[in-house]
Amino acid sequence: MSKHTLERILQSQGFGTRKFCTRLVEEGEVSINGEVLTDTRLYLETEGLTFSIYGEEWLFHEHLYIALHKPVDYECSRKPSHHPGVLSLLPEQFAARDVQPVGRLDHDTTGLLLMSDDGAFIHAQSSPKRHVPKVYVATTHEAVTPQLVAQLLKGVKLEDESVPLAAVVCRQLDAHRLEIVLEQGKYHQVKRMLVAAGNHCTALSRTQIGALTLADIGLNPGEWCYLSASQLALLAPSQTVA
Ligand code: URA
Repeated sequence: MSKHTLERILQSQGFGTRKFCTRLVEEGEVSINGEVLTDTRLYLETEGLTFSIYGEEWLFHEHLYIALHKPVDYECSRKPSHHPGVLSLLPEQFAARDVQPVGRLDHDTTGLLLMSDDGAFIHAQSSPKRHVPKVYVATTHEAVTPQLVAQLLKGVKLEDESVPLAAVVCRQLDAHRLEIVLEQGKYHQVKRMLVAAGNHCTALSRTQIGALTLADIGLNPGEWCYLSASQLALLAPSQTVA
């Protein structure tokens, strides 16, 4: 439980500088439970607080934990160069809160991307020591063969890697698609593993992180949602991949 002034609350949620937030309140753009509040010095309990700005309702979040269904042709980089950045798919004030992707997907990879402004969460979630399984569906140029699956499970040697990298799970879905589960997150790992195994990837999608699946969240490409406590718990490394 903690109480803060309205101007500070708005600032903490990324709506602008303290001066700007003060102006928003004074100009009558902020309301709570349908009541316009114009006293910027009002102390409010933040837990469970919902407020409206320009008629749009927001729930106070001390930290943001977000799932995004990343569409193709968006970059995860902070300074995107060839395509729009994934942050442009989120409300503008989230960027001001320094929301960042947890790890990266290539611009042409689609699927489940976590985003947060909680540095400890980002660090823990990205740590290779945690062994959080990530499930990808790769479409391949050449047909999938039992040998390809066996090779990916046994491990393939990638340039710049001292030991061969192997899939934790790999199974054929159809003639040109396979599901591959990795516990590391090396640069272009799925694509490079497929090339090293004599095939190559023509499309790639991440469908699951830990036990959190994109299908269960039910987001269409470009859509995002806040993650609930029970969804966050599914990201724990002890959760197994189905
Ligand atoms: N592996 C890749 O090659 N690309 C991604 O975006 C994710 C995993």
